[in-house]
Amino acid sequence: MEQFAKNMESARLMVEQRLSEFFPGGGLQEAMRYSLLGGGKRIRPILALKFCEAAGGTMEEALDFGCAVEMLHTYSLIHDDLPCMDDDDLRRGRPTSHKVFGECIATLAGDALQAAAFQTVACTVADWRSGGETAPGLAAGVLARAAGEEGMCGGQYYDTMGDGKPHTEEELLEIHDKKTGALLRAACVMGVIASFGHREVEEGCFAAAKEYATKLGLAFQIRDDMLDVIATEEDLGKPIGSDAENEKTTYVTLLGLEGCAERVKRYTEEAKTALRSCSWGGDTAFLEQLADELATRGN
Ligand code: IPE
Ligand code: IPE
Ligand code: MG
Ligand code: MG
Ligand code: MG
Repeated sequence: MEQFAKNMESARLMVEQRLSEFFPGGGLQEAMRYSLLGGGKRIRPILALKFCEAAGGTMEEALDFGCAVEMLHTYSLIHDDLPCMDDDDLRRGRPTSHKVFGECIATLAGDALQAAAFQTVACTVADWRSGGETAPGLAAGVLARAAGEEGMCGGQYYDTMGDGKPHTEEELLEIHDKKTGALLRAACVMGVIASFGHREVEEGCFAAAKEYATKLGLAFQIRDDMLDVIATEEDLGKPIGSDAENEKTTYVTLLGLEGCAERVKRYTEEAKTALRSCSWGGDTAFLEQLADELATRGN
């Protein structure tokens, strides 16, 4: 295995291991576990871990922050699939939460995962440096903003309200930036915050992480829209043609597949460039390669 794939795999395993420790119980925890531990690429926690490393820290230092973002992301997926939103039956290769547990429990599992995300950030046990004890509070603030009306929920609102209505490219960019970009941004910035809790981090690294994630998020959602058209359900682990069925305006409907590929390429280059705007305490090569890998991902 090439080095990048090895690094990706060891970060992913670290995340899987930690996530598996959170909800061992029955009842609602069973539904939380079903969605949280049922596959997924784990891009957001991996970004948190790797941004912490880039900012001179260790992956371990960002592990709970990363898991928290994954909990919040998983909640967004459970709710995104509900009949009142995208009404999808397959997620991460398995029946969606509401298909297995019913709408009531699926809604509650999402709600509980969101609360658990903030609990995880707030209760992170770490040997913070003097002055670094503010890290959990800073991280919780970043996550809350990304999750709420200004971020993911606001984006999902416009996305769902827009079903059947046309959008301009500018409007679509804003929806994508909120529904998808916001959480990716939180993951990257929280990784830098985790390192900051233990050592000095150059101010410019926060802005660079934000800019990288913003461009990565746009590329990521355009690729997601492309995959809804060009992938197979088996590869994707979720239904294809869902956007067309809901009459959503996507980049594919606005620009066509070739236009999308060109945009993904451009945003990916801009993401990589953003990383070169400050001096990092660690290595950013993995993050550059990750952007390239995500640009051509098949699921
Ligand atoms: C799916 O996110 C929802 C979007 C924001 C496009 P991912 O593609 O990261 O889904 P998982 O976590 O790998 O299942
Ligand atoms: C969802 O976008 C973004 C979220 C905040 C969950 P999509 O609706 O396109 O995500 P998928 O394709 O169902 O994963
Ligand atoms: Mg959706
Ligand atoms: Mg959806
Ligand atoms: Mg999609």
